[in-house]
Amino acid sequence: MDLKGRDFLTLKDFTPEEISYLLDLSAELKDKKKKGIPVDTLRGKNVALIFEKTSTRTRCSFEVAAHDLGMGTTYLDPTGSQIGKKESIKDTARVLAGMYEGIEYRGFGQEIVEELAKYSKVPVWNGLTNEYHPCQILADIFTFIEHRGPIQGKTVAWIGDSNNMCNTWLQAAEVLDFTVHVSTPPGYEVESERAGLHGTGHFKQFANPMDAAKDADIVTTDVWTSMGFEAENEARLRDFADWQVDAEMMRVARPDAIFLHCLPAHRGEEVTAEVIDGPQSEVWEEAENRLHVQKALMEYLVLGRVNP
Ligand code: CP
Ligand code: NVA
Repeated sequence: MDLKGRDFLTLKDFTPEEISYLLDLSAELKDKKKKGIPVDTLRGKNVALIFEKTSTRTRCSFEVAAHDLGMGTTYLDPTGSQIGKKESIKDTARVLAGMYEGIEYRGFGQEIVEELAKYSKVPVWNGLTNEYHPCQILADIFTFIEHRGPIQGKTVAWIGDSNNMCNTWLQAAEVLDFTVHVSTPPGYEVESERAGLHGTGHFKQFANPMDAAKDADIVTTDVWTSMGFEAENEARLRDFADWQVDAEMMRVARPDAIFLHCLPAHRGEEVTAEVIDGPQSEVWEEAENRLHVQKALMEYLVLGRVNP
């Protein structure tokens, strides 16, 4: 079991054992960071951070993770490189792999990050595509485990759009053996093929979001309009109006349920201020955990197992 030299493009790229190792490593790195114990295992190495869409958390957590580990970073912004415009993804992958020990990519179609990984001899991390957001879901699962213990057998209620976050939760459920209750407005249902599902019974669909939230251990949602879908914003504001996580919805979940949101959030749309700023919300720790989990992802994919 060694992830050295591999890529992280979807949640299904890792086995349950590999995920378990990564989450243990995340906990260890978080603990050391809190205690001020330096871990610079990637000293002298460099990572390229490609962003074709905007970002706060993903960029900052990759940069701080890299710097803490001793790595240099180059940030390529949505307009400042040749990628996909003046130069093919294939050529970009070969050029960057000659200079860097790893590449993070945030952008549009999943096929782009897959092409990048295919031609890169160094690891590629998916920092969000239209289809998936695996770094975020690993951080979300880490956050749940920190607060409530193992996620196996638990229920996650996904309320709202069947977007990149929803697809990745569904993949995680198949790998780690928990259940996702999904409620979307009509016309926005999960596309099983896009989510890469195999009908393993870890996914249940509900017309009524209150039914999806019932007895859930995690209630989670995301913006009604994801990056790249802005043209649909007006229609979505109308169509998603009843898919808001509010206090009434939290009350039908388990009494110890936590609320998660990858952020950025729109209070008054997909979630009320009362819930996201309330006692069951763990969104700030969830955001911080991006740092610790990505540190583990970077160390493990570049070096393999440091501690057997
Ligand atoms: N959750 C997340 O990925 O946030 P950013 O878009 O700010 O990176
Ligand atoms: N679904 C959102 C997630 C942002 C982190 C988007 O793709 O815009």
